[in-house]
This record gives sequence, structure tokens and C-alpha cells, in this order.
Amino acid sequence: MEEIKVFCPATIANLSCGFDVLGVALDAVGDEMIVRKTEEKGIRITKITGQDLPAATEKNVAGVAGLALLDKTEYTGGFEIEIYKKIKPGSGIGSSAASSAGAVWAMNTLLGNPFSASELVEFAMEGERLASDVAHADNVAPALFGGFTLVRGYNPLDIVPLPTPKELYATVIHPQIEIKTSDSRKILKTNITLQKGIQQWGNLGGLVAGLFQSDYELISRSLEDHVVEPIRSILIPGFDDIKSKSLEAGALGCGISGSGPSIFALSKSEDTAQKVAQAMERVYEAIDVEFDVHVSPINELGVKQVF
Ligand code: HSE
Repeated sequence: MEEIKVFCPATIANLSCGFDVLGVALDAVGDEMIVRKTEEKGIRITKITGQDLPAATEKNVAGVAGLALLDKTEYTGGFEIEIYKKIKPGSGIGSSAASSAGAVWAMNTLLGNPFSASELVEFAMEGERLASDVAHADNVAPALFGGFTLVRGYNPLDIVPLPTPKELYATVIHPQIEIKTSDSRKILKTNITLQKGIQQWGNLGGLVAGLFQSDYELISRSLEDHVVEPIRSILIPGFDDIKSKSLEAGALGCGISGSGPSIFALSKSEDTAQKVAQAMERVYEAIDVEFDVHVSPINELGVKQVF
């Protein structure tokens, strides 16, 4: 195979209680990319549609992630990349992760799969380092593995794929402002109290157990964030109202998607996820905030070939 077209899923990182360690991939939102082998060495971004992003290889997350992969292969040729961007940068649903993960997955496939999914996560993390100054894996891991993933450890990298309860649906609303991950990390405190730690790791364990047991009540009780949400939510218009209306509409939980400004909710059933979307929309319509909204099943495959 000389060329491949891929779907690169959007992702929700953190999932309230799992800052930098939990994430999930979405099926209804994502970018597309075409990657082709070239005789010429190196990586060229030959086309970007949908968003105004740098095409210089070293300034583009797909280019940087791809270079990390190329550096570890014997392959003597190179790649061309076309990026059809649908996920807005700075929206909080893993825009840079989709490009980084899509590029390395496509290249690995064209080379006959020499690298494992975990190795691809390490390459894609270089794209995250460029985008946010920190090589976090909680978007690129679910984008590559699909479903829910836990980053058990960073050094060495240890990704644990988690099961997806069949009835879970996600709702994501994106108020039309941009928040750079690097900026929304700068406002966080670097210390937490033992009491907050206890709450947070109780919830993280609870969420993981809830996913394994398809226990929607336990998932619901565990979708809490005592560490990051109280600080970052101040940057997001109508956050408290969106959250309370989503829960009233039947969501299992609601929180900040990644570093925001998107807000996510998880629901049991598509019907509830749609009701949650309507409740969220009403909040933003009332305060005149423009938005995009998505209701999505969980993507269990990660980046995939499309025809
Ligand atoms: N864990 C990262 C953060 C995700 O919250 O900064 C960014 O999408």
C-alpha cells in the first residue's frame, strides 16, 4: 500500500477525575487525513483544509509526530500528508492529538505495522509536546487505542485500555472561544491537599471499576473533579449552569473536556445524550454564546482507515 486515508477521532481527556491519565475516543467527531509514501526523505504537509495551521513540518503536530516515528525506522523514503481538519484547535477535544495520532497510525500501517500501539503513543506525544509544551498522553492514547484508556504511568509509559459499557454516549458542547492547553495549564496549582487527593483517587478508582462492571451508577458517582475543575471552569462561559442542567436532563456526569472550553457529559443511552445536548444548547442560547454541539457513541477502534 502506498497511500491511506484515515479517520482520526476527537477525544475527551481527563474525564473529570483523571487529570492527564484518563481519556476516551469519540466516533462522531474527528479529522481525516491522507498519508502517502514518497521516495523523497522526510515529511511534507502538502494540504490543510478546514483550519489555518502551519504547514512547515517542524511546526505542525502531525509533522513532528511523524518525524519521531521516522527517526526510529530503517525506511529510507518519506511521507506526504494531507490534513482535512474538522476539530477546531483550542476546543478541548483533542485537535492536536487527532492529527498526531492519525499521522503516526497511517505511517505505521503503510510501513507494515513495525510499531506497537504504545510506541505510536510515544511518537504522537511529541505532537502534544509541540502543541501544549507538555507531552501528555491522555488524548493520543484513546485516539490510538480507541475506547477509554488509562495512562497508568508516564515513565516508563504504561497505557491500560479500559472496557466501554455498551450504552454510554457522550455529549460535547464547544462555546466558540479558544483556550490554549498551555495557557490553561499555567493557571493550575502544582500542589493539592491530601484531602483532595483522597477524593480524586477514590473517584478515579471508582470510574475505572464502573467501566469494568458497566455500573452506570458508579460511573455517575465517580465523575467528579475536586482539583482542576474549580480552577479552569472560571474560564468557561456558563459552566455551572450547563453542568447543573445536564445533570437535571439525566446525564451521568458532566465536566470540562480536556483543558476546555468544551464541556462534556456522559449519558446512558443516545436518547438521554440528545436531551442533555438540548439542555446545554438552551443555556448558551439564553446567554448568547455561540456553540457547536456533538452527540457521539464511544469510538472503540481509535484511528481507522476510511475508503
Ligand atoms: N490533560 C490535559 C490537560 C489534556 O487537561 O491539560 C489537554 O487536552
